[in-house]
Amino acid sequence: MLEDLVSIKVQVIFYSMYGHVYRMAEAVAAGAREVSGAEVSLYQVPELVPDAVLEKAGALAARAAFAHIPVATPDILPEAHAILFGTPTRFGNMAAQMRNFLDQTGALWAKGALIGKVGSVFASTATQHGGQETTLTSFHTTLLHHGMVIAGVPYSEAGLVHMGEITGGTPYGATTIAGPDGKRQPTENELKIARFQGHHAAEIASKLFR
Ligand SMILES: Cc1cc2nc3c(=O)[nH]c(=O)nc-3n(C[C@H](O)[C@H](O)[C@H](O)COP(=O)(O)O)c2cc1C
Repeated sequence: MLEDLVSIKVQVIFYSMYGHVYRMAEAVAAGAREVSGAEVSLYQVPELVPDAVLEKAGALAARAAFAHIPVATPDILPEAHAILFGTPTRFGNMAAQMRNFLDQTGALWAKGALIGKVGSVFASTATQHGGQETTLTSFHTTLLHHGMVIAGVPYSEAGLVHMGEITGGTPYGATTIAGPDGKRQPTENELKIARFQGHHAAEIASKLFR
């Protein structure tokens, strides 16, 4: 069968300071792996903040939990059929670490190396209305400049309309709410939406590339 002939390469590339986006990234990757023939790789982008500052911010120990995840370089991006990016919100936008990574993709842009690939974004904020949607949709602008096909989270994922608790989750991408002290962890509903997003993006790539 044709679907056995071509594997679909999915990259999940994230930045996380305290681990919330990392947990979401794992869920996104798990969802992508459900798609037949998907080969899923998880990467983080390089840290820019000095260790002393991270330690003061209480982030050094949290970051040790995903120190084993390889660090991405821009030249790996053309290998993927779908790329899902995860970032915490910084003042309603993506984190500088992710921006720095994307700002090194100019040569790929010049070659059109990402045109037609599936691009998708997930995020985390401290607060419920702290800029999840602005982070996701402003991130999409960069992906559109690269000519990527944007995948969000359609409302066929029932978790988006779950009203029984405070929850992240938007049609633009999966989200979690870390809480003002960072103690809240991604909930089952938020992780379910993240898995859906990974599956959805990988499935679209599968339809486009196989
Ligand atoms: C400089 C800075 C700016 C931030 N800006 C926002 C913001 O605009 N809205 C918000 O809700 N949370 C904001 N946060 C909180 C982070 O989004 C939160 O720590 C993050 O989502 C947790 O994800 P992580 O554990 O993967 O790092 C900010 C944090 C920092 C350090």
